[in-house]
Amino acid sequence: MVNLNTELLARTAPLYERVKRVIPPFEWATFAEDVDAIIDLKRRRSAVVLAHNYQTPEIFHGVADIVGDSLLLAREATKVDADIIVLAGVHFMAETAKLLNPAKTVLIPDLEAGCSLADSITAQDVRLMRARYPDAPIVTYVNTSAAVKAESDICCTSGNALKVVESLGAERVIMLPDEYLAQNIAKQTGTKIITWKGHCEVHELFSADDVRQLREDHPGITILAHPECPPEVVAEADFAGSTAAMSNFVETKRPPRVVLLTECSMSDNVAAQHPDVEFVRPCNLCPHMKRITLKNIRHALETNHHEVTIDPAIAGRARRAVERMLAL
Ligand code: 13P
Ligand code: SF4
Repeated sequence: MVNLNTELLARTAPLYERVKRVIPPFEWATFAEDVDAIIDLKRRRSAVVLAHNYQTPEIFHGVADIVGDSLLLAREATKVDADIIVLAGVHFMAETAKLLNPAKTVLIPDLEAGCSLADSITAQDVRLMRARYPDAPIVTYVNTSAAVKAESDICCTSGNALKVVESLGAERVIMLPDEYLAQNIAKQTGTKIITWKGHCEVHELFSADDVRQLREDHPGITILAHPECPPEVVAEADFAGSTAAMSNFVETKRPPRVVLLTECSMSDNVAAQHPDVEFVRPCNLCPHMKRITLKNIRHALETNHHEVTIDPAIAGRARRAVERMLAL
């Protein structure tokens, strides 16, 4: 009799091929059943999984249909023709997918998958900023709730923030809520930027000393940083860009040795595709991103938990801010 486990491993072998450099075989054996079940559920339920670059490799390379940074996930969400979207990422990403697909079912496998930036500001805070600086348009980072987006003029991501700010042609703009992203963008534009005190709990931990230490410990290393890192970190890095821009940098430049100053899983996902590049991995985990697992993706597809809903009183205005960004 054929061992069921052997059949399962044979069926998922092409997927394992993609992650074999970052997941040992004994660990894959614990993932294979859920991967297989999720693939089957997606087919039966007309569902797709959109996964952010910070998802773990078994999700990113194993069950995701679309992977990318926040900008790509928002863009691709407008093109999905499946009935159900499972967002393997954090809550604001699922809300953005729902804003762009009001008629579809959008699921997030864990409702507690939040974001320190989204938590740093409320709709009332944005209204107060508008009252204080009535002449300044408000650019809101996508890492915010739909209620906050609804109070803003336009959204941005780390991938298009400079373009969004410059598109407004204003003398000064308010950029919320990531202080470091705003400061990093302010260095690249003549527009005056009014900031907020929000920080990403993952990227704020990197310091300029870390960068110097990395150069000392790993001669010749190329250092890539996410623009949510403090400006002094970005200043010491060789390149700063969104998660997609960092991935693209490795893909096109093939540095022999690289470090990504960002969330941990990102290095695993990129390393899985580039055996010729040596990755140094001092990284920080995002506890929110790590709430998403194969088990809860499977559960989401089996039970429709948790369906993302947005108050109709704010959905229209929030959608307008996201669509205005996508139209650029
Ligand atoms: P990206 O838009 O660069 O993928 O960043 C999203 C995020 O949450 C970074 O911490
Ligand atoms: Fe939010 Fe930072 Fe986590 Fe990204 S890495 S989801 S910005 S807490």
